[in-house]
Amino acid sequence: MNFYVMTLFPEMIEQGMHTSITGRAMEKGLLSLKTINIRDYSVTGNGRIDDYPYGGGAGMVMQAEPIYRAYEDLLRQTRAQDKIRLVYLTPQGRVFHQAMAQELAQEENLAFLCGHYEGVDERVLEAIVTDYVSIGDYVLTGGELPAMVMMDAISRMVPGVLSNSDSGVSESFSDGLLEYPQYSRPEIWRGCPVPPVLLSGHHGNVDRWRHEQSLLRTFRNRPDLLKKENLNKEDLKYLRKLLESETDNGLSAEEISVLKNLLGISLKFSD
Ligand code: ADE
Repeated sequence: MNFYVMTLFPEMIEQGMHTSITGRAMEKGLLSLKTINIRDYSVTGNGRIDDYPYGGGAGMVMQAEPIYRAYEDLLRQTRAQDKIRLVYLTPQGRVFHQAMAQELAQEENLAFLCGHYEGVDERVLEAIVTDYVSIGDYVLTGGELPAMVMMDAISRMVPGVLSNSDSGVSESFSDGLLEYPQYSRPEIWRGCPVPPVLLSGHHGNVDRWRHEQSLLRTFRNRPDLLKKENLNKEDLKYLRKLLESETDNGLSAEEISVLKNLLGISLKFSD
């Protein structure tokens, strides 16, 4: 997988990506990274790449031409004749998620454009961008951190990047549920014991317990991820048990309503 990043802060990207797992993957040749400093393509020759917005308003706008020239250079480097998948990081884009990471990991070359200031001249975006992506509903000072977040998540999907080939699969989101809690030695830490089932040596019980914990976590933290069509009979039985012992579980009215909805229990008659 070859990453290309057009940015005003190449050192930020280089430092971040050459660290830890992505850094090791680059040393092994599983990933490559090329940063392109947009400032090198200034048309005024003094490194300036922004100007005032037409129509007035606060802030500066990144000009179209330096970005387009940087893009042309990038195409020459990739030997991709006409077009490359190019992600523009913006809070106005589609929100990034695991399935998107998986899909983008299939590309051989993937480019990112990091904006700054008040924005980027719309004409160059229309000319070169293939995907508009946000990493969440908040506004950052630039696209560098979002680009790194995306590259990190995508890199983990590239075969060989994670040492244990399974670890990319059995974790949060891969089956639509959040990951179950993990424990390691000692057996009792500051008075807190490891859940006994994990010490039982009974793989079937351990698997069931972990799956139920995943269900519980997803229900508690991200009920929006729980879809009726993804739940099997056992899952529904567990959720029903949870609802029936609602006083012990201290469920909120909202949680009860989510559970009833999932279980197909009419709210009108049972409340
Ligand atoms: N640039 C600024 N904020 C952003 C966000 N939330 N996602 C992607 N790019 C951004």
